Amino acid sequence: MDFLTSLYPFILDWLDLIVRWFHIIVGIAWIGTSFYFNWLDSRLDRDLKDEKIDGELWSVHSGGFYHINKLNGPPTTFPKELHWFKWEAYSTWISGFVLLILVYYLNAESIMIDKNVNDINVFIAIVISLSFLLGSWLIYDFLCKSSLINNSLLFTISCFLIATIGAFFLTKIFGSRAAYIHVGACLGTIMAANVFRVIIPSQKNMVDAALANVKPDLQKGISAKNRSIHNNYITLPVLFIMISSHFPFTYGHKYNWLILAFISLIGALVRHYFNLRNKKQHKVWILPVASIGMILLMLYVSIPKINNKDSNTALATFTFNEVENIIKYRCGVCHANKPTFDGYEEPPAGLVFDNTQDILNNIDGIKSQSIDSDIMPPGNLTGMTENERQKLAEWIKAGAPINN
Ligand code: HEC
Repeated sequence: MDFLTSLYPFILDWLDLIVRWFHIIVGIAWIGTSFYFNWLDSRLDRDLKDEKIDGELWSVHSGGFYHINKLNGPPTTFPKELHWFKWEAYSTWISGFVLLILVYYLNAESIMIDKNVNDINVFIAIVISLSFLLGSWLIYDFLCKSSLINNSLLFTISCFLIATIGAFFLTKIFGSRAAYIHVGACLGTIMAANVFRVIIPSQKNMVDAALANVKPDLQKGISAKNRSIHNNYITLPVLFIMISSHFPFTYGHKYNWLILAFISLIGALVRHYFNLRNKKQHKVWILPVASIGMILLMLYVSIPKINNKDSNTALATFTFNEVENIIKYRCGVCHANKPTFDGYEEPPAGLVFDNTQDILNNIDGIKSQSIDSDIMPPGNLTGMTENERQKLAEWIKAGAPINN
């Protein structure tokens, strides 16, 4: 049993690896097919004499020529096998949800809950998380079924504002990284639910109608088209969020929710440019505007940091109280006379960080184990963020002052 208990964190790490790997692969397959069909539809040659054919396309790939026809209606005889492209979406969502459990729910204390933001218990945190996933779909679906959908500008602005408000609340409920991931999980849920609840049922309706030789439900087709377009735009913010954990200067910022909104806007703008270009509308100004937006954002986030480094006010970026809290929550759960971390009866390596003097006595160890390397916390079991490591580093660089 003891062996199993010690193995548990490693099992979690490996499960994380396997599921994350899978998640990325099926995610690429999903987004890849969706981008491909989007592109295909926009590049079809529609100047054809044959009225049964809506458009055709020639391409060369994988050692052969491909000749694709898009029909104007259903086929006269149905092929033996019709490919649907739905499992990419479903398996991406399912593996994403498993990751949310593995990485966040099972480590809720350290990685989801940030006591400096909000001191909630694990159960409440998970309930909030699930409510956000379900709630975001219900609100979005409601808006899609309301008359708002007929005014695409107003619809877009409303969805964007609601998502931003959601992001704001998430940053006030969870730790910053978890907040970002939850925005991504909500958007991903909307995308997968669009496929499951609207797009695939509409295609099914189309196939059934063709087999029964009746007209398909037009409204279903229109809704499916709308949802596909939404998914197409949402993809960019979602992909940014999925890689955002590499960029603590985004999620670790004081106005992280605003930064996320801004980056999403830029991503959607770039997507918009390509969608318009596919319709042969060349709005070239969009790209420089998006680039300037990104540069301005970089300046806004970075300039205060440069100023801090240059002047003697470097200390203003942290207080000793903050440093103490980082060590208490990220290290002190194990390195204490009475460890509170599951499975630890005694302070590991005999190291204790219970008070200021303990911490000062061990500066070298702290530096070598958690700044020069990320050996500690082991397996980052307590979910130490890059931002926190930077704070510790700055503090030690400044001579480990304890009076600010
Ligand atoms: C989950 C429990 C846990 C947490 C959290 C943790 N440690 Fe450790 N720490 C250990 C264990 C176990 C060892 C002994 C490792 C060994 O013997 O190889 C250790 C050893 C150390 C050592 C001695 C290493 C050596 O080889 O001399 C230092 C220094 C250290 N930890 C610093 C930290 C710092 C700083 C943090 C927070 C950023 C931290 N630890 C968080 C479990 C933990």
